[in-house]
Amino acid sequence: MGRILLSVPHASGREESYVRQAFASNWLSTVGPQLTAFEAEFGHRIGLPALALSSGTAALHLGLRLLGVGPGDDVFCPTLTFVATVNPIAYLGAHPVLLDSDRRSWNLDPAILEDALAARARQGRLPKAVVVVHLYGQSADMDPIAASCRRFGVPILEDAAEALGAVYGRRPVGTLGDVGVFSFNGNKIITTAGGGMLVARDPAQVARAQYWSTQAREPGTAYEHAEIGYNYRMSNVLAAIGRAQLEVLEERVKRRREIAQVYSEAFAELPGVSFMPECDYGRHTRWLSCLLVDPSEAAVDRDGLIGILDRADVEARPVWKPMHLQPLYRGAPRYGGGVAEELFRRGVCLPSSSSLTTSEQDRVIQVVREALERRAPAAARRVASGQ
Ligand SMILES: Cc1ncc(COP(=O)(O)O)c(C=O)c1O
Repeated sequence: MGRILLSVPHASGREESYVRQAFASNWLSTVGPQLTAFEAEFGHRIGLPALALSSGTAALHLGLRLLGVGPGDDVFCPTLTFVATVNPIAYLGAHPVLLDSDRRSWNLDPAILEDALAARARQGRLPKAVVVVHLYGQSADMDPIAASCRRFGVPILEDAAEALGAVYGRRPVGTLGDVGVFSFNGNKIITTAGGGMLVARDPAQVARAQYWSTQAREPGTAYEHAEIGYNYRMSNVLAAIGRAQLEVLEERVKRRREIAQVYSEAFAELPGVSFMPECDYGRHTRWLSCLLVDPSEAAVDRDGLIGILDRADVEARPVWKPMHLQPLYRGAPRYGGGVAEELFRRGVCLPSSSSLTTSEQDRVIQVVREALERRAPAAARRVASGQ
C-alpha cells in the first residue's frame, strides 16, 4: 500500500500524442502550434481571449500590472489564500490589504469588502484593484462583490488558480472580473506540469500581457525595449500536455465532486465534523475536499487528525494559513480576520485526486472515522447514546 497523496496529476492518456506532435514540429520553444491551439481551445471554453504563461503566479503578476497596480498602491485581497495570490502585489511595490472570509463560501466576504471600500472612499484612499480568490474550487459570491467594486470604480482580478471548471450562476469563474487567472500546477484539477493562463475581456489587454511576457520587445528587427518585461511564456511542449488535459476537464470535475460526496456522507454522523459548504449560487469543483474539526466535540483537533493520517500514510493538509498570520505579511492592514483564523485552526484538506480509487478513499475514511471516534469526549458519547 503506497502513500495516498493530496492531489496528484491525472493523465488522460492523450498527452503523449500531443507532445509527440510538438517534437515532430521541432517547436521545442515558447512559441509553436500547440501553444496557439491550447490558447484557442481554452479561450473558446471560457469565452475570453487567453494567454498561456509559465505559472499562475506569473499570470497574477501580469494581471495586476494590466490593472495599473504600481509602487505605493494598495490592493485588497482575501487573507485566507495561498501566498502566491499576495506576492505579486509586493513584486510591483504595492501593498496588500487583507480582508476576511465569508463563512458560507470561505471566500472574500462581500459585506466586509463593501464596508472597507466605503471606509477607504471616505479617507480618499481607494485600492487600485481588488483580488478575489475562488478557494478550493468554489466561486466567491461575485454579484455583490462586483456591484461594490463598480460603485467605487475599482477593477477586479480573479485568482481562479484553484477553481478551473467552477461556475457562478452559469458563468465560468475567471470571466466575472476584469482579468482572470488560472494555474496548471501539478496539483491542480488539470495540469501542464506547471503553467498558468491569463484571460481578459479586452483583447488589447491580453496582447499587452503577451508583450510583457516576452521581455517587452518592441516590433522591428532590432532588439529594442521601452518597458520592463519578463520571460513568462508557456512552453509549446507543456501546452501540448494542457490540450489533452483540457479535453477531460468535465470528467475531472465530476470525479472530484463524487469524491467529496462520498466523504461528506461518510462523515455526516461523526461528532464535531462539518464539510466545506457548497453555495447554491454555483458549482463547486471540489478541487480539494475540506472539512472542519471542532475539537470540543471531536476526539482530535486539526493537527491530531493530520498526524494520525500521516502515520497511516495518508497526506492531509491544514486549510491555508491566513496571510495576516504569516511573518511576511503580519504588518499588512486588514479588515477582520477572525473567520479566516477559525477556518485555518479547524480546517483539514483530504486526499482528493481524481485518480483516487474507491479502496484508497475507503482507507482514508476508515482512518478519519477511527481518529474522530477513538477518544470521543463524554459530551459526544452522551449525545450519541441519547442521554
Ligand atoms: C490561490 C492560488 N493562487 C495562485 C497560485 C499560483 O499558481 P502557480 O503555482 O501556477 O504559480 C496557486 C497555486 O499554486 C493558488 O492556489
